[in-house]
Amino acid sequence: MPKPFHLAWFLGQSFASKNWRSMWAGSASDVKRWMMPDIFIDLAKGMERGCFDYMIIEDSSNVPYTYKGNHDTYLQYAQGSPKLDPPVLVPYLAQATTHLGIVPTLSISEYPPYLAARLINSLDHVTEGRIGWNCVTGSNDGTAQNYGHEKHRPHDERYEVADEFADVVTKLWEAWDEDAVVLDRETPMFADGRKVRPIHHEGKYFKVRGPINAPRSPQGRVPIVQAGGSAAGKKFASKWADTIITEGSDIQKMKAYRQEVRTNAAAMGRNPDDIKLLFLCSPIVDTTMEAARERRRLQQEDSLKYVDMQLAGMSRLTGIDFSKFDLDETLPMDLKTNGHQSSLARWLGKPLREIVRGYAAKGSLDYTGTPEHVAGVMREVMEEVGGDGFLISDTPIDRRGVMEVCDGLVPELQRRGLTRKAYAHKHLRDNLLEF
Ligand SMILES: Cc1cc2nc3c(=O)[nH]c(=O)nc-3n(C[C@H](O)[C@H](O)[C@H](O)COP(=O)(O)O)c2cc1C
Repeated sequence: MPKPFHLAWFLGQSFASKNWRSMWAGSASDVKRWMMPDIFIDLAKGMERGCFDYMIIEDSSNVPYTYKGNHDTYLQYAQGSPKLDPPVLVPYLAQATTHLGIVPTLSISEYPPYLAARLINSLDHVTEGRIGWNCVTGSNDGTAQNYGHEKHRPHDERYEVADEFADVVTKLWEAWDEDAVVLDRETPMFADGRKVRPIHHEGKYFKVRGPINAPRSPQGRVPIVQAGGSAAGKKFASKWADTIITEGSDIQKMKAYRQEVRTNAAAMGRNPDDIKLLFLCSPIVDTTMEAARERRRLQQEDSLKYVDMQLAGMSRLTGIDFSKFDLDETLPMDLKTNGHQSSLARWLGKPLREIVRGYAAKGSLDYTGTPEHVAGVMREVMEEVGGDGFLISDTPIDRRGVMEVCDGLVPELQRRGLTRKAYAHKHLRDNLLEF
């Protein structure tokens, strides 16, 4: 029997208007009431049917204006904006599910560590241990401008800040012993002060007394999700991440990335098996190979129809205004970004038109076909790479897209013993560590 692998889903368009232009966007009220939790609840239930480990809710907090120097393209296509605040969605999803892990994104460049620790601790309490934290460092300078800064700190320094931030947050989460809450009505004693400690953190970037003003949450140290692809990003992820999400478009690079993280983690005294690496996977599944291939062709055609929208997205992530380049010109190798370095590295030396054509399925190998075919490819990829699973991404976030994966592809994976058929645990961390 092969070793099973993990599945997660990236809600890449965040708590936002999703697929509003598509024929499958849902009823008129779904499209108009995108800020209501209804459709997200349906999607979360689908993922739980598929026994996914977790769903991540993307975030950023500005109306970008990098492309052509104004926000028009972003608002025209709802590209990166508008979106609502992910933690608000979490309790709705938690109420509608029982085992699915839920991972909101909180940026270390936007939150002070105490506020982040408190919010995540609270969410872990009310979900009874199903929360994870997508720890990001931020990229678009427009966001920094909403928080009192002209621009983001330099790329690698952001990971230094993230390192201290994660240290403060985890100390706060552990400031209460597990048995600090006594609830003895006779004495009376609600919580035992001897079992709760200030953290007295004084570092280069933060000063926090603590303790956090709530008991230790069910998971205590909430699983950290991380996606750094640069050298600094990988170092940070090797130290702090419980699960890493990263691009998966080249088997050799996927293998090398996994090996590097596992070696780093072991050198830091961690058990490499405690870090689950999930690779981006953008499947299109249909009843016949021809039908699936035709949909992939239409997806690429659509990307080229709305080049502005794709270029605006790429500009947002890197801070580079791609309207300034000719579509058929190869991108110069010496372009630099203070945003997503690993994304830019993938694009250098290629013509923009080619990047745009593949943008809808960025960072993924080709998973196009029947459920049997795609399940077979996923098995081969995992056998070759060694683990640990896939992050479904850039698959249309609508009921059809989620159903095709959760009720078409996943049952085929389950029949082959490749993914779990039922949850063995209640907490996200335990499900991640199950295999
Ligand atoms: C699947 C995935 C999801 C991500 N989600 C977010 C997000 O929600 N918000 C954000 O600011 N950055 C997000 N990022 C960006 C990463 O945190 C990171 O900045 C990016 O991968 C570039 O890292 P690097 O500069 O170390 O290469 C995501 C990246 C990936 C691959």
